[in-house]
Amino acid sequence: MSFRYQENQLNWGSTEYNYDLSKFLSSIDDELIEKYSYRGPYYLYNAELLKERLSLLEKSLPTSTFYYSVKSLSNINILKIIAQFSSFGVDVVSVGELIRSLESGFSPKEIVFAGVGKVDHEIIRALQVGIKSFHVESLQEIYAIERLASEFKLEARIAFRINPGITVDTHEYITTGKDESKFGISARELPKAFEIVSSYKYIKLVGLQTHLGSQLLSIEPYAKSISFLAKLVEKYTEDMKDVSYLSLGGGFGIDYDAMLNCPNAEFNLAELNEAIKVLQKYNLKIDFEPGRFISAYVGALITNVTYLKEKPNFKIAICDAGMSELIRPALYRSKHPLLPIVLHSAEKQKYDIVGPICESADFFAKKIDLPELRVGDQLVIGNAGAYGSVMSSNYNTRPLVPEVLLHDGKFSIIRKPQTYQDLLDLEMV
Ligand code: LLP
Repeated sequence: MSFRYQENQLNWGSTEYNYDLSKFLSSIDDELIEKYSYRGPYYLYNAELLKERLSLLEKSLPTSTFYYSVKSLSNINILKIIAQFSSFGVDVVSVGELIRSLESGFSPKEIVFAGVGKVDHEIIRALQVGIKSFHVESLQEIYAIERLASEFKLEARIAFRINPGITVDTHEYITTGKDESKFGISARELPKAFEIVSSYKYIKLVGLQTHLGSQLLSIEPYAKSISFLAKLVEKYTEDMKDVSYLSLGGGFGIDYDAMLNCPNAEFNLAELNEAIKVLQKYNLKIDFEPGRFISAYVGALITNVTYLKEKPNFKIAICDAGMSELIRPALYRSKHPLLPIVLHSAEKQKYDIVGPICESADFFAKKIDLPELRVGDQLVIGNAGAYGSVMSSNYNTRPLVPEVLLHDGKFSIIRKPQTYQDLLDLEMV
């Protein structure tokens, strides 16, 4: 998003700054070589675009509070920017994410803790820190939290994550609200859940939550969740005296094709703001947990073309980044826009854009039309901020790549490259 070519050079702009990428990338490359002797791919983020996304949410849903889904992009330098926005807290799914969030300046009361498999040490840590609430996903988890809260004599605030049994139109791996899925407390179990909470001493029910899936492009599923939650609020009024919020989860979809063009298939926040109005009469806060909507457009993976292979009707560009850096195309068949930093000619050719890893699933795009590529060219793989770097791995003993932030018209390296020695040290036992 907000990419455009100026005299055949790719620029990445926001209303505040325009970054001439060929100039910036060569300075970044120089600094990575000079400081870390590193040559290779990296993630690049745009701080001004990030702030624009956060402001857009604040403006579009003015009565809501947001809990940024840390799992989508978790670098503490990104979290520090989000922490400056007063209507934002965080949604974490592990103690690792909890530690990052505290380190970035979020207060415990701005943190909700989700996840189907919280283990004892995670619950204890979150209790001791005093987080806003645990989003509990099973009756057994309610019991585990009560047991630990009573052992440490600490109050535990919880919200039921409810699985309303609603199917949504997205990739099956990121659908979470179906009855058969592992997520949430099912509607059948709710009477029991309310009953046990009222009998427990250390637990206080402070919210109800649903999350139906990710990359949702219509508000229909949210409308269903809204009427589902409204019915519960009416039915269980007695049990809800401490309930202060309803969370509708995350899932706002983005337009993965947008890069040189403006997004046109993006989730409609204005419609959602209308839809939540029916909940106003309950006098409860309406929360959301967006991840992708905030982080996707603000990040890109920068990769270099190492080799070109000629095939009868197309070429294969072998890049130095692969599925170890961006697994989404391999895992979900997702499509990310690809743009060369410098245009050699306007004429397009067919390319497969692949990585160096020994797997046929290691590709970014198949048979796409791109302007001529040459060995040594740099490519931007766009809309990769969400679930990009955070899903990287060390497969093929490839160290994690650096992360770089464009901000205030300059750049900062916000994650050093991992080294081979870092990897070996863990095994030198
Ligand atoms: N809340 C809960 C309870 C979630 O499980 C998730 C995402 C979110 C919020 C944030 O969803 P978002 O606004 O980012 O759609 N790796 C996949 C996405 C997995 C999403 C998991 N849960 C991908 O690359 O598409």
